[in-house]
Amino acid sequence: MLILAIESSCDDTAAAVVVGPNRVQSNVISSQFDVHAQFGGIVPELASRAHVEAIWPVVERALADADVTLDDIDCIAATQGPGLVGSLLVGFTFAKAVALVKKIPCVGVDHMAGHLLSAFFDKNPPVFPYTALVVSGGNSSLFTVEDETHFQLIGRTRDDAAGEAFDKVAKLLELGYPGGPAVSKLAETGDPQAISFPRAWLDKDSLDFSFSGLKTAVVNHVNKCRQKNIALAREDICASFQEAVVEVLVEKTVRACRRNRHHSIILGGGVASNRRLRQEMTYRCHREGLSLHIPAPIFCTDNAAMVALAGYYQLQQGNLLALDDDAYSRSPLN
Ligand code: KG4
Repeated sequence: MLILAIESSCDDTAAAVVVGPNRVQSNVISSQFDVHAQFGGIVPELASRAHVEAIWPVVERALADADVTLDDIDCIAATQGPGLVGSLLVGFTFAKAVALVKKIPCVGVDHMAGHLLSAFFDKNPPVFPYTALVVSGGNSSLFTVEDETHFQLIGRTRDDAAGEAFDKVAKLLELGYPGGPAVSKLAETGDPQAISFPRAWLDKDSLDFSFSGLKTAVVNHVNKCRQKNIALAREDICASFQEAVVEVLVEKTVRACRRNRHHSIILGGGVASNRRLRQEMTYRCHREGLSLHIPAPIFCTDNAAMVALAGYYQLQQGNLLALDDDAYSRSPLN
């Protein structure tokens, strides 16, 4: 079963060819970094235009890298949502059109399902059921994953996503876009205990997250330094901010796993590339006797291989797209 998958939910145009469910033959990602960097964030209208320009070259490249043609493809999978609708529509409509012309099945995939299953690209995949944390620019959510197609949301952010908080702090400190990698790099030379930023634990048993108070605390700290003409210790700010994010993410994920009586945790989303998060989650899981599965960074960020993986199981269930099916901006899983 050779699957061509397409992902265009946000600011990356991606295509992959996968032998279902998880043998990756090619995985191409075309970043729109240059388009959005000057604005310090994603401009939706520019993102959809850039997808239109990139979609065909990216698909051609994915086919060429896998050494196949469209005639060899058995099924097309595309991200149906959630995301920016203008961006989603480019990949989703492209996929439906190609499937129609080639007379092959087409499946719509929830982007979150891709992240929740991406640990299956590992040599040492997790065993169901497990607890998953998806942390990206748009999500900070905890899920119970029963099997390949059954997921239950058990916690989510009430305001900013973790990646969004990283990006906003980076913008404040003029570190460029996307901010997560820049903040975490600078944090490596800073003192994580230097500034006592708040941790939002919320209600006693809550598995929800909140990062807007932390972001405001960083803004206030920076403003105070500027008013008093104190030089900004950016490294310390980054390290202390990162520590506050990581501590809450790790603690609540382990708590969720214990409450679920699961033995495994998986991470997904762009923030799962964060070294400090990986390090602390590894340490805690080891201490608690839990197995931890973190996909390689290429499968953490938005990618089409994970769309093929989740799409394979949609196809097995017979969930085919009709021509008039639409993309959606909010996930029914969230
Ligand atoms: O999943 P993803 O690639 O895409 C979307 O959410 O659309 O996640 C991107 C997010 C951005 O907010 C980025 O700043 C953050 O993930 N990110 C990181 C790191 N690498 C990417 N945040 C913290 N540390 C990192 N190393």
